[in-house]
Amino acid sequence: MYTSKIIGLGKYVPENVVTNDDLAKLMDTNDAWIQERTGIQERRHIKKGDGNSTSIMGVKASTIALERANLKPDDIDMIVFATLSPDMYFPGGGVEVQHLMGMRTVPALDVRNQCSGFVYGLSVADQFIKTGMYKNILVIGAENHSGGLDFNTRSRGVSVIFGDGAGAAVLTRSDDKTGILSTHLHSEGAHKDQLALKGPSTSYWVPEIIADNPREDIPYYPVMNGQFVFKHAITRFAEVINEGLQANGLNVSEINMLIPHQANLRISQMIQRKFKLQDSQVYNNIQRYGNTTAASIPIALTEAWEEGRIKKGDLVVLAAFGSGFTWGSVIIRW
Ligand code: COA
Repeated sequence: MYTSKIIGLGKYVPENVVTNDDLAKLMDTNDAWIQERTGIQERRHIKKGDGNSTSIMGVKASTIALERANLKPDDIDMIVFATLSPDMYFPGGGVEVQHLMGMRTVPALDVRNQCSGFVYGLSVADQFIKTGMYKNILVIGAENHSGGLDFNTRSRGVSVIFGDGAGAAVLTRSDDKTGILSTHLHSEGAHKDQLALKGPSTSYWVPEIIADNPREDIPYYPVMNGQFVFKHAITRFAEVINEGLQANGLNVSEINMLIPHQANLRISQMIQRKFKLQDSQVYNNIQRYGNTTAASIPIALTEAWEEGRIKKGDLVVLAAFGSGFTWGSVIIRW
């Protein structure tokens, strides 16, 4: 069996910066509340006419990742595209990347799994590489949240949290035993309604929505039971990080860099305290980008690497939790 290794990382975020004060002009919220509860200071939103979409941001991040991997689009054997906010209901973003980047007719797999999307995507890519079926796989996490959020006071607990952006990683086959050591994935569908966007969907289609409109429970915007999600996130993050470390006979103290999905700075800080990690061992950038769901880990991983905070031989741990609920971890020897 082979090992898969990340050899190129890239990120893209729209230029348009939206501060907490900007949101306070649209709804009853304020900078102090948002920073105290989430750590978020600003996020990026696509601006109408700036040419961006979920797929296009994915292409921009992928172009950088490919350059850094020293590969051409033709070298890619498979695309894995994770998003909860695709440009179209179907087809998904993967085929758009294949087309816009001029790739061969390679398989393009779309992954949902929300905030865990990139971790699920890495796991899928890892399996294809391990077995020898493919050599180079492009894994993308990209989100356009701003296009589907409700910027009214009724949704303020959700809309202040999320931001737009994309990140990408190129994985390749490795013979030297460095790279992805293991991946660990979980789900618990009993809590599917705790963080969800219910329509438009096949169970709640457009004519029904229009007939019901305006409804109190606004099912065409995301809904979240914030405190319930928060509590489960803390437990599952800790569990799945421990699971990954134990599977490889590693200790928490050996982690050089933990990159948690950027759900809420308070969640990351609680995990850091629980594992007694130093600031230098945990990467957070939610302050600048908000929660970009499937894009948050690849954006943070790219930035950590760009800042020289990940070096050859480091133990890097990625961990995610989100809607579904779904959660997972990836243990990497860099
Ligand atoms: N600005 C100002 N007030 C707000 C607000 C906002 N943006 N959003 C909610 N409030 C108000 C509520 O209406 C409520 O007011 P009330 O007490 O008068 O009813 C009060 O603040 C407390 O609301 P609550 O939802 O209990 O706040 P909280 O402490 O749970 O914080 C979250 C809310 C969303 C920040 C927090 O629950 C959280 O981060 N949860 C996890 C979310 C997450 O990680 N999601 C992604 C998973 S991947």
